[in-house]
Amino acid sequence: MDKTYEAIMARKNEILLKSVGLDYKEFENDGIGFDFEKMMDSTGYDYDLMETIQRDNGVGNTPLLDLKNITKLARKYAKPGYGAKILLKDEACNASGSFKARRASISVYHAKKLGFKGVIAATSGNYGAAVASQAAKHGLKCIIVQECYDSELKGQPEIIEKARKCEAFGAEVVRLTVGPELFYQLLLLLEETGYFNASLYTPFGIGGVETLGYELAIQTKEKYGKFPESVVCTNAGGGNLTGTARGLLRANADSLVIAASVNLSGLHMASDKDFNKKSFTTGHTGFGIPFSINPDRSDVPRSAGRPLRYMDEYYTVSQGEVFFVTEMLAELEGLERGPAGNTSLAVAFSLAQKMKEDEIIVVQETEYTGAGKHIQPQLSFAIENGINVEFGNPKDEVPGKSIILPRNPSLISARKLNIDDLRKSYLRSVIKVHSLTKNNLVDTDYLCEELRIDKNKLEKLLGEI
Ligand SMILES: Cc1ncc(COP(=O)(O)O)c(C=O)c1O
Repeated sequence: MDKTYEAIMARKNEILLKSVGLDYKEFENDGIGFDFEKMMDSTGYDYDLMETIQRDNGVGNTPLLDLKNITKLARKYAKPGYGAKILLKDEACNASGSFKARRASISVYHAKKLGFKGVIAATSGNYGAAVASQAAKHGLKCIIVQECYDSELKGQPEIIEKARKCEAFGAEVVRLTVGPELFYQLLLLLEETGYFNASLYTPFGIGGVETLGYELAIQTKEKYGKFPESVVCTNAGGGNLTGTARGLLRANADSLVIAASVNLSGLHMASDKDFNKKSFTTGHTGFGIPFSINPDRSDVPRSAGRPLRYMDEYYTVSQGEVFFVTEMLAELEGLERGPAGNTSLAVAFSLAQKMKEDEIIVVQETEYTGAGKHIQPQLSFAIENGINVEFGNPKDEVPGKSIILPRNPSLISARKLNIDDLRKSYLRSVIKVHSLTKNNLVDTDYLCEELRIDKNKLEKLLGEI
């Protein structure tokens, strides 16, 4: 078969249909939208079954920890009577060391059930380790396709560590330089091997995260007699927030769902030059914003991660703030955890100070740390790449130029994004792709669901753009 870029791309739909086992055409509406709930139901795995699969495979039922000392510190900077209790769901306790195990557990189980000999995932991160870990458990082969290096074959320490972890679980890691060939390589390997595409964005994966939201709601209620007022989710491709929010809804929890990302504005994710200028490889705005605005930019026709459907608020923090909070967690709570979860912790530390003392804010995940994920190699690598690292006010940090560690914890201050701006960007991209005008605007119900707004608001936003 012709293996040129053009030929493989032309066979894209056929390859995806065979390797995911879902016919996405079945969910499409006549207009521009699709039936999201039908897609989520199409997996055939209900909540109880997902929970059983996870329990059988070392996934889920993680502890909810009370960060007493960090809560005390937040109260020190809050007005009297303010400073919410900060709880932390310790997802590093999952088999592969992050919540991604919840996602991988259902995909890999499904691949095994369908008789696939192996699984493939394209990911630069914890998901690779999660798929590799679950594949090891089920005796399946595993290939992880990873963007590892810039054109000089220099790798970000965190990405190199994650590759190591995948290999430790017995996976083969295909290491690529940054660029557009990731998707091509994925399709090529899927076709050549006939393995299952354990994509991050299928309903199997996102469905698996629902247990996280449900568990944390029930654990909080059992211990503190109420659901948390707020839950903070680190946001990149949107699956973490989507799955967690759906789990909260299942528990009937009315918590605010808050997205958190590290601010990497100005750095281009597909740029060779910028690739090694960032100290965070996920949970940052370089993924969080584009995937919120256009979730279907993923490696399946319709992503099951659709964060604007569930997000109440969205905050960013700087790299320096997250490094600082990482050390805070270690030194005040005796917990050494990795960067992505600590992004939410930095946001929670700031927001807790504006909430009342009897309120609860939950940081919904931690991730494992080790080797290149640590602060030390990351800051050394940043300095090697010409980044200025200093103490000061984190609001002066310029991504790609400086990392500013807060001189004092009181300077940790999450910055709120305007979700209506994201909604307008979403609408602009839909209008462009589908050549919509005022006169042929279709599927307004779908747009309202996607953006979590009513028709009046939709009209207002359309008017503004
Ligand atoms: C530990 C951890 N937390 C959060 C995220 C963000 O998840 P999502 O991409 O589903 O938004 C990731 C994704 O890479 C992750 O590995």
